[in-house]
Amino acid sequence: MSVIETIRARRSVRTFSGEPLRAEDRQKIMAFAETAENPYRLPITWMLLDTEQTGLSSPVIVGEDTFIAGKMQRVPHAEEAFGYSFERIVLFAESIGVGTTWIAGTMDRAAFERAVALRPGEVMPCVSPLGYPAQKMSVRESLMRKGVKANSRLDFSDLFFDGTFDTPLSAEKAGKWRTPLEAVRLAPSAVNKQPWRAVVCGERVYFYEHRSKAYASAEWDIQRIDMGIALCHFALAAEENGVAVSLRLEDPGLPAPENTVYTATYTVE
Ligand SMILES: Cc1cc2nc3c(=O)[nH]c(=O)nc-3n(C[C@H](O)[C@H](O)[C@H](O)COP(=O)(O)O)c2cc1C
Repeated sequence: MSVIETIRARRSVRTFSGEPLRAEDRQKIMAFAETAENPYRLPITWMLLDTEQTGLSSPVIVGEDTFIAGKMQRVPHAEEAFGYSFERIVLFAESIGVGTTWIAGTMDRAAFERAVALRPGEVMPCVSPLGYPAQKMSVRESLMRKGVKANSRLDFSDLFFDGTFDTPLSAEKAGKWRTPLEAVRLAPSAVNKQPWRAVVCGERVYFYEHRSKAYASAEWDIQRIDMGIALCHFALAAEENGVAVSLRLEDPGLPAPENTVYTATYTVE
């Protein structure tokens, strides 16, 4: 499967078949995780957690026997870096038939943090179950999906702009950025808030975070994890289309709407 097909096929899986995660899939996922770098070059330690041994669970997930968790130093850009690397693992899992759900909230966080032996100065932003999707979603899963309109996304021209935030960009006019931006549009985000915005200026694409007031805290901003996911989808889809891009942190100082803050720039290499 191509990257864009994998991105289109992925959805959060909260109802698993009950079949234990196969040894070969565990190995493939952990081997891939070791290579899942991020453009911020921040190291992340990945761990698989067996639910039987650890007693861990999530109230919204059924039928799983394994979680994956990552921990890292709590440093500037940790959120985007984590979002980027974890999403690479999520897409890899999808490509081998293993379902996932990003989980930041619906878990006993203290229990997971003990299980990964989190130390002072470290953070474990999210975890995900790993397993094989059940044939049928649980009632709770269907209701959760409805609650956050999980099957829908904002329109292309609500998210992406041409030169300035005053000029919406249509998919038809996006040229070589069309598929990478479509990959961003389809990304998962916390409570499906889709905070990513982007302004295209020729060979450069400036990414911004449209902050929902309820989620921003000075200390830790979960929507920056969503931004990392968006950057990951953009870069993987651009590369697949033969456009090599590199990340820069250089705020162009464009006038931006309220609660909309610069995250990063992708430029053609
Ligand atoms: C950073 C992040 C945190 C999330 N936390 C949770 C969570 O705690 N519980 C949950 O059930 N889903 C969680 N989700 C999943 C989102 O609700 C889901 O991605 C979104 O509704 C879109 O649905 P889809 O993934 O099926 O496309 C999270 C997603 C992201 C990206």
